[in-house]
Amino acid sequence: MINFKETLKTKIFQTVLEVSSRLGFETYVIGGYVRDLILERPSKDIDFVTIGSGIELAQHVAHQLNPKIKVNFFKNFGTAQFKYNGIDLEFIGARKESYNRDSRKPLVESGTIEDDQNRRDFTINALAISLNKHNFGELIDPFGGLKHIDEQLIKTPLNPDITFDDDPLRMMRAIRFAAQLNFTIDAETLEAITRKSDRIKIVSEERIIDELNKIVLSKKPSIGFKLLDKTGLLQKILPELSNLKGVESKNGIGHKDNFYHTLAVLDQIAPNTNDLWLRWAALLHDIAKPQTKKFIEGQGWTFHGHNFVGTKMIPRIFKRLKLPLNEKMKFVQKMVNLHMRPIVLSEEIVTDSAVRRLLFEAGDDIDHLMTLCEADITSKNEVKVKTFLENFQLVRQKLKEIEEKDAIRNFQPPVRGEEIMEVYDLMPSKEVGIIKDAIKEAILEGEIHNNYEEAFGFMLKYAEQLGLKRVK
Ligand code: CTP
Repeated sequence: MINFKETLKTKIFQTVLEVSSRLGFETYVIGGYVRDLILERPSKDIDFVTIGSGIELAQHVAHQLNPKIKVNFFKNFGTAQFKYNGIDLEFIGARKESYNRDSRKPLVESGTIEDDQNRRDFTINALAISLNKHNFGELIDPFGGLKHIDEQLIKTPLNPDITFDDDPLRMMRAIRFAAQLNFTIDAETLEAITRKSDRIKIVSEERIIDELNKIVLSKKPSIGFKLLDKTGLLQKILPELSNLKGVESKNGIGHKDNFYHTLAVLDQIAPNTNDLWLRWAALLHDIAKPQTKKFIEGQGWTFHGHNFVGTKMIPRIFKRLKLPLNEKMKFVQKMVNLHMRPIVLSEEIVTDSAVRRLLFEAGDDIDHLMTLCEADITSKNEVKVKTFLENFQLVRQKLKEIEEKDAIRNFQPPVRGEEIMEVYDLMPSKEVGIIKDAIKEAILEGEIHNNYEEAFGFMLKYAEQLGLKRVK
């Protein structure tokens, strides 16, 4: 029998043990904390379940740890929570729980520790450790959760139909754990997800996106997305992505399967960034390929403008999924819009002006854009990949040189509009914009450097050609 006595020597567990025994309660640490302890994963949340009042226990434990701690509690659910030294502690009375079929709100009825373990999502999340004097530190594992951790298996403790009917979000959670832990979902559990995938519609978008983001942020996100696809959940939550699936062929010419290509890009970007939004950009970079697909004689399959159409699709997708409609979304749009630029650039001779234009458009996001483009190379042809990556190195080198020389990244016009108006006695007008644009173009083309003197000199010559008279 495994015993965690040694691990539970810390102040928190010792306090819970003492207080719980004083109150005459029976208490266990349960769920994700136990799972992660066994898996040696770091964990910032600890869940306690007590045969007694979770709220009362929390209040006494908090008081003993530090009388200043404020405990938050929800009387209706019998749960209480507080933070101690950056750790989130949650207390709950053991429940024999049934759910209302059409919402996720549980009906609460108190129960035993077995009842509580029964109602949990997966065997690996139903493990409990005793915090009671007579068997302190003992693992309570009625469903073989420990064995399943060893076998890297995700399986529901009860008949999966019951577990998923109780809370359909668990279908997403199964896939999220499979992706995060690189575990397999038990065949029966997986079949039940497929059968019940339609039930995901009673779950709020906020909770779905929480799980989806965890999949996006996992080490190898394709594991999760392939399972979402296989079970039919993807078609329900992000149909635009599953629509990328499939290959068409004409005159013996096919194109790559954009769904699997997208997943390969996401997997390739994962080791290079933990930025959720850059990973979303990888997921959505080719999202408009089905809409823009055309077969052109002599050219084969084309997807002209897919970056632009993709940019336009993003607000709808973000709104539906309750993702933020702020600068994070704008960043994703920008990445999707520009995602082919460095590739095109590296295919040609890398000119200074092309690099300057790219820097001008990408601004501070240039490094993220380069990371995305490098991940976008999924060719099986090693020579091709090598050539691309070498060219990217060249582009990166050039970007550095040009940035040092011309400071284009956060371009500010060196001659302001007001000054143009003063010098030529102009009202705010089209001419002012034309002159400003011409100065910007001259800088991007490398005709002049990005400084006031050269820009002012250029303005004088340019305005003269327009027939404007200098008054100042
Ligand atoms: N749980 C459940 N059904 C859910 C959500 C949670 O049965 N829909 C149970 C599981 O026993 C889980 C515990 O509640 O272990 C705590 O849930 P949560 O904190 O959401 O997840 P963790 O398992 O702790 O994992 P993570 O911290 O990675 O989200």
